[in-house]
Amino acid sequence: MEKRRVLTGITTTGTPHLGNYVGAIRPAIEASRDPNNESFYFLADLHALIKCHDPKRVQESRREIAATWLALGLDTDNSVFYRQSDIPEITELTWLLTCVCAKGLMNRAHAYKAAVQDNEAEGGADPDKGITMGLFSYPILMAADILMFNATDVPVGRDQIQHIEMARDVAGRFNHIYKGQYFKLPEARIEESVAVLNGLDGRKMSKSYNNTIPLFVSEKKLLKLIRKIKTNSLEPGEPKSTEDCTLFQIWQAFANESQIADMRQQYENGIGWGDMKNSLFELVNDHLKEPRGKYEELMNDMGYVEDVMQKGAEKARAEASDLIDRLRKTVGFGSFV
Ligand code: TRP
Repeated sequence: MEKRRVLTGITTTGTPHLGNYVGAIRPAIEASRDPNNESFYFLADLHALIKCHDPKRVQESRREIAATWLALGLDTDNSVFYRQSDIPEITELTWLLTCVCAKGLMNRAHAYKAAVQDNEAEGGADPDKGITMGLFSYPILMAADILMFNATDVPVGRDQIQHIEMARDVAGRFNHIYKGQYFKLPEARIEESVAVLNGLDGRKMSKSYNNTIPLFVSEKKLLKLIRKIKTNSLEPGEPKSTEDCTLFQIWQAFANESQIADMRQQYENGIGWGDMKNSLFELVNDHLKEPRGKYEELMNDMGYVEDVMQKGAEKARAEASDLIDRLRKTVGFGSFV
């Protein structure tokens, strides 16, 4: 059987939080252990520039995300782990794709449309105010990420499904215009079983809501943040519902079956919120203790992490350069002689 090629990118503008871990990092690392998969995971730092013009933040986030994935046990011998900006072939492919991509397709992209709508709602004269070409053509860069390595499976959140469809569309256009099967059509993989965690205020945990619990904060800080999670005002002894309860939802994401059943019972018995928060801290901290130590070690050894990233770039470029050579000839850039 042919292996599935799984590829996904992580935009490097933030610090990984519990929601990222449960929703994306943990399933990706698990997928990379499946011998039927080839995994390509990368730091989408070219994408970061769309939202962030602070070089320090971009660099810090790149370091943190790389160290996080390594600390959590990503095996870089059995996967290709790299920084997007280390692969110039991706930027080159972006241009080849840009030149076959209909502008109208990009006009329909959700992220762009949302930005235009915000401008219109404000009633200003220019609907494109503050919108860069980076934001506008973002789906083409993402298509290049995927098509460069002929990925078959792209695990993403629902908000990204449209981008995968656009990648298929652009791939098909290129194949059609240049009369060949240069690109496979990728498929979005939406993990239904993976939890989406809520944050401190009960809304979805997200950097944009400023309600996250960073993955590798100190024990003290972790306890403090868990204690900040919003609850209702039921007293100890009063039975509580597990439904729509942020604490229980996080519990479920870390606990095994019997721990989940046990906690359900404790909710019925009226566990106090303070006790629940202490138990949740113990559970989450037990999971994170070891990788947290590893993370701290790696953050203090960037020489090692840099080496790993360079080896990843080498592996990725070995693949990318074959395809880009072929594509260069395809569009008419071969040697004169
Ligand atoms: N745009 C994706 C996000 O914001 C990150 C990303 C960039 C990506 N390139 C990709 C995801 C290629 C999958 C495949 O989440």
